[in-house]
Amino acid sequence: MKILVINGPNLNMLGIREPDIYGRETYESLCRKIRDHAEKRGIEVTLYQSNHEGDLVDAIQQAYGKADGIVINPGAYTHTSIAILDAVKAVGIRTAEVHISDVDAREDFRKISYIRAACEKTISGHGMDGYLEAMDFLAGMEDGK
Ligand code: DQA
Repeated sequence: MKILVINGPNLNMLGIREPDIYGRETYESLCRKIRDHAEKRGIEVTLYQSNHEGDLVDAIQQAYGKADGIVINPGAYTHTSIAILDAVKAVGIRTAEVHISDVDAREDFRKISYIRAACEKTISGHGMDGYLEAMDFLAGMEDGK
């Protein structure tokens, strides 16, 4: 099973940005957690982060025919990007949406998610563990099997 984990804008600033909301763990630490988890589960994982909408679209397109699943936290593009939604629809790869914070409990503009329409699952407010849960969901290992 091959999973591509995509992080959008400002997620490279984890550990620095608004620690009261996103915690003190860095993006590097998140990547380590994801790689360790993938190894335990026998998942082949690729990680990608970009602050640019078009680059995120490119990464999704390039996963066509390569990845079996996508875990994506589009950051603020969640609430604005039809292009990212269309890219996920275009490649037809099973996708799970992750947010570190509970977006539904924050400002109203964060309650809108364009990408949700193309996702099999949304995990919001579970911190960094949300990425691991999303990987397990795509791999059919939700109960820690
Ligand atoms: C986020 C929530 C978004 O509203 C925000 O713009 C982010 C991070 C999260 O992981 O909680 O950049 O996706």
